[in-house]
Amino acid sequence: MDRVKLGIVGLGRLGRQHAHNISGLIPEARLYAACSLVAEEVEAAKRDFSPEIVTMDFDELISLPKMDGLVIASNSQAHCDMICRALKAGVHNIYSEKPVGMTLEEIDQIRETVKEHKANIFQVGYNRRFDHNYQRMKAEIDSGRIGKPIIVKMINRDNLWREEDLVRFAPSSGGFIFDMCTHDFDAARWFLGSECSKVYAAGGVFRFEGIRGIDIDNVVLSVVFKNGAIGIFEASRNSASGYHMETEIFGTNGDIRVNSEPYEDRLIFADENGYHRKGFSWFYSYWEKTYIAEIRHFAECVLNNSRPIVTLADGCKTVEWAFAANRALDTGEVVRMD
Ligand SMILES: NC(=O)c1ccc[n+]([C@@H]2O[C@H](COP(=O)([O-])OP(=O)(O)OC[C@H]3O[C@@H](n4cnc5c(N)ncnc54)[C@H](O)[C@@H]3O)[C@@H](O)[C@H]2O)c1
Repeated sequence: MDRVKLGIVGLGRLGRQHAHNISGLIPEARLYAACSLVAEEVEAAKRDFSPEIVTMDFDELISLPKMDGLVIASNSQAHCDMICRALKAGVHNIYSEKPVGMTLEEIDQIRETVKEHKANIFQVGYNRRFDHNYQRMKAEIDSGRIGKPIIVKMINRDNLWREEDLVRFAPSSGGFIFDMCTHDFDAARWFLGSECSKVYAAGGVFRFEGIRGIDIDNVVLSVVFKNGAIGIFEASRNSASGYHMETEIFGTNGDIRVNSEPYEDRLIFADENGYHRKGFSWFYSYWEKTYIAEIRHFAECVLNNSRPIVTLADGCKTVEWAFAANRALDTGEVVRMD
């Protein structure tokens, strides 16, 4: 195999970026086929990325015999159905955006279908593991440099949404905790090598009245890990200064932080109102390189038949955790996961 021929379903906010990366920035892959329910997105992909095949029919996409791997970047609620249908149609190499499923029943169904239809490569889109700062952080924790990790702190704040966009997005987002916090869950369990033992959640609608009854816009989760470490995770849809991700691991002998100063560049503007710096306009500009690296990794795994860094088991764990966190939020009680 020369270059891995990838098909993609979902050409929205993230899917279009994946298509762009596959078509020009990943030497091991090429964009073979692209699919979306939205005609304008399909037309734009045809014009901008020149895949051999474009379609609005997912069944047509998964029956293409020459496709070496499928990238699923559709809405979260569609992932389980698409993963299972693709496997049954004979697609053996799958990259799925997070979260892989929306319920515990869905992740059981995926696990069974993966086993029954003998999936070869299965990678889940936890892109942070491909970030060089996060990789260094993981290596330093493992080396013992900060001693034993005591506290994991994660800030995960989307840039301030326009209310009408969020009202449109919220019903298909999979829910705030599934959409935002599963990234933090995956990173935390990777850093600590430990799973969540219990979780408490407090959150609600603080900024966007239009999503009340559908979703929430801010949350704080308190977590105890099975190894005894403690976690604080906060997420928001309304960071007025821009996208802000920050992580700190505090240990018995020191701590490591990443992005405590969330600026997009090194420019400082000064005027009569003081000094100003620019924040990140959206998540993609902060994590851009990781989205290229993760699909490149997927293509390499297909080429070399090697095990991906983020597996289906990882994807399922974060769904279990999100499910527990949602229950904690709904009940106001501590939810135990062991
Ligand atoms: N890893 C990350 O950092 C990250 C960031 C953003 C989004 N995501 C994930 O990516 C996924 C997509 O998010 P988005 O914001 O791009 O969504 P979006 O709503 O902008 O796009 C969804 C796309 O899925 C397509 N689609 C849905 N059902 C389909 C079907 N039956 N057949 C063909 N196409 C179908 C739509 O046509 C659209 O192109 C979500 O699962 C989300 O969680 C991950």
